[in-house]
Amino acid sequence: ASVAAVLPAGGSGERLGGATPKQFCALLGRPLISYTVRALERINWISDIVVAVSLENIETMKSIIEKYGHKRITVVEGGMTRHRSIFNGLKIFPESKLSSCPLQKPEVVIIHDAVRPFVEEDTLLKVVLAAKEHGAAGAIRPLVSTVVASSADGSLDHSLERSRYRASEMPQAFLFDIIYQAYHQCTDYDLDYGTECLHLALKYCKTNAKLIEGSPDLWKVTYKWDLYAAESVIKDTLS
Ligand code: CTP
Ligand code: MG
Repeated sequence: ASVAAVLPAGGSGERLGGATPKQFCALLGRPLISYTVRALERINWISDIVVAVSLENIETMKSIIEKYGHKRITVVEGGMTRHRSIFNGLKIFPESKLSSCPLQKPEVVIIHDAVRPFVEEDTLLKVVLAAKEHGAAGAIRPLVSTVVASSADGSLDHSLERSRYRASEMPQAFLFDIIYQAYHQCTDYDLDYGTECLHLALKYCKTNAKLIEGSPDLWKVTYKWDLYAAESVIKDTLS
């Protein structure tokens, strides 16, 4: 059965700072997003890869695709929030029958951040297989820090037992019909404030969501120093 991927890449990278959104920052001369696309493109069981970028970066993305010879990529316009970018990416499939876009609706869709360039096939396969079985699945990681809740005056209210909690990461995977329906049913509030696709699938489609212990390869570039770390990883492993 078919598997496609949607890469949200429409953010502006506020936490990283700087004029260029992090997905277009050069790592050893090559844009970060190109490494992520390459990681997915190398997997032959992923048919189409849809990248959602903001309007002003569509030409940049197209030139990256051409320069690095990326294949099976479709570029769509992103949205003001991550959810809106993902929704735009999903919409291209079913609507393809009406438009000139030749993409076929997949059975399973992977959602993966454009700024997680080191994701490995094993992790992707695990979330896809779990999504087929349960409807939805997402990678999780152990917490690095203990989570605390502060009271209104800024003092410690309580702290959570770290070993009982996990950080929700990417990739996630869904039966296409489930996540598509969830996005169609959800409210503007969800689209504007949330960041978690599993949550939407659970809330609107009452699906099961299987959590998969991921490996460190799905780590996300968020802050400036993550770029230096990513360059080092590329030097060591990819080049
Ligand atoms: N994203 C998106 N559309 C948005 C916002 C985010 O497609 N309107 C994408 C980002 O481009 C990124 C992924 O969602 O690939 C994960 O988001 P995050 O790490 O938060 O990236 P940014 O939102 O760009 O960064 P920041 O939150 O620091 O501004
Ligand atoms: Mg963000």
